[in-house]
Amino acid sequence: MEPAIQGVTARRTVHRSPESRVAAPRSAASESDDWWRSAVFYQIYIRSFLDSDGDGVGDLGGIRDRLGYLALLGVDGLWITPFYPSPMADHGYDVADPRGVDPLFGDLATFDALIREAHEQGLRITVDLVPNHTSDQHAWFREALQSAPGSPARQRYYFRDGRGTEGSEPPNNWQSTFGGPAWTRVADGQWYLHLFAPEQPDLNWANPEVVTDFERTMRFWLDRGVDGFRLDVAHGLAKSADLPDMPDPEDAGGVMDEVEERDPRFDQDDVHELHRMIRRVLDSYPGRVAVGEVWVSDDERLARYVRPDELHLAFNFRLLEAGWDASQLRSAIDDSLAAMHSVGAPTTWVLANHDRPRHVTRYGDGELGRLRARAAALVQFALPGVAFVYNGDELGLPNVDLPDDALQDPVWERSGHTDRGRDGERVPLPWSGEKAPYDFTSGSRTWLPMPDSWADLTVEAELENPDSMLSLYRRVLDLRSKYANPPKDTLEWYGAPEGCLAFRRGNGLICALNASATDVPLPPGEVLLASGRLSGTDEARMLPPDTAVWLA
Ligand code: BGC
Ligand code: MG
Repeated sequence: MEPAIQGVTARRTVHRSPESRVAAPRSAASESDDWWRSAVFYQIYIRSFLDSDGDGVGDLGGIRDRLGYLALLGVDGLWITPFYPSPMADHGYDVADPRGVDPLFGDLATFDALIREAHEQGLRITVDLVPNHTSDQHAWFREALQSAPGSPARQRYYFRDGRGTEGSEPPNNWQSTFGGPAWTRVADGQWYLHLFAPEQPDLNWANPEVVTDFERTMRFWLDRGVDGFRLDVAHGLAKSADLPDMPDPEDAGGVMDEVEERDPRFDQDDVHELHRMIRRVLDSYPGRVAVGEVWVSDDERLARYVRPDELHLAFNFRLLEAGWDASQLRSAIDDSLAAMHSVGAPTTWVLANHDRPRHVTRYGDGELGRLRARAAALVQFALPGVAFVYNGDELGLPNVDLPDDALQDPVWERSGHTDRGRDGERVPLPWSGEKAPYDFTSGSRTWLPMPDSWADLTVEAELENPDSMLSLYRRVLDLRSKYANPPKDTLEWYGAPEGCLAFRRGNGLICALNASATDVPLPPGEVLLASGRLSGTDEARMLPPDTAVWLA
């Protein structure tokens, strides 16, 4: 019988290497301090995971209610997106107080209970910190608005005089990643910088007060027992000193696009000194980890963020950006491993997050997209290093086409209704029942509408169905945990037919993927797990298109 998904009673049944399961010893450095090197992280977009108070918005109480489910799924740790007090102009990525909990999501007592209960289940908790900017409602920014140009309060942000007649033009040509200029003018005529929405003024990290305050924030959460941080826009903290114009503002990229070299807004060399500072703080808390969100297009530049004295991990978006194409996937894997090995850091593998369309949809949507997503999961979890799962991926959720009047992402307005933004990948998770809201909430409304077609995609339905995406995720994560996962492990490529790939890990695991349009012979070996039905005969088994296998 399947353990109940309700409540925290479900205990994991899978076997883990002991050092990765023990609740973090907080004193001396030990083997388990490296738990994150081959961990599977589950990203919780808090608004959309589970609502515990009937207001239609997911919250900390919802996460507490489903720790049993997460343990059963077989992940090692959680990344929880921002839950701090916020006016929600960017759904929590506009932080008004980084050391508190927004009443929409719960309170500090709930958070403390969540940490305690997660640790009891052997789950680590990492939280999202937003160092690049604050909310315009943060006490510092309000003070800055009330203070004179040039005052210390303004120097915590980027306030500048404008160009042109009476300074009526922005100080430079920088564009916001959400569309439109990256500058907004205030009453006395000065302008302030915001790489994202106007409600998200950029902090000036050249100001020591900003650094000190961030250290306070880190210690605040570390002292409460968090196992680490996801650092939002980790490549944006340092700006090019004189804020020079962008060489090509037309080429500003879309929301969360990778930035090209020489873009003065991001990936400045001075950022690394800041990450060394962050690492020094973390090193005084053994066993904690920081993963940076770094959107740079050059693998070698990405590797700089995870040199031994900088961040532990950085998101590697190469898999997420690759099309359904064996040679693209293979070079994503090769290049990423080579770059990370050059600095001795584990590679991370990301297929989806709250900023990019879900991969079921990217891979063609419908049955085809789901078939490919199943195969992609086998590839992702076979790779050495760290894997991130975005909530709902384990159910095979697709993106949702939402009506205009439901859209909430600031990108929709900022882009002048040319970019529909990221709401389509943020629709709440279906838990049980036949009709929306599928027990996501006890209320009748959800913050984004849920489709009527998700009855087969609920956690309840998928737990009972051995052919579901959820059953596949559980099996593959269970199997992964039984294989040693030395993170510095490389992989050896096998010859594979056109449109296919096959590799063997040092731990003996073989993974083969057929991304071509025809059946191909299965490589020799014992089949441990297949993402779909195999074809051929017992003597001559074949791997069908859009299918992957694990072999021993
Ligand atoms: C987050 C986005 C957010 C942006 C601004 C990103 O990296 O992932 O969701 O809108 O930072 O904070
Ligand atoms: Mg709620």
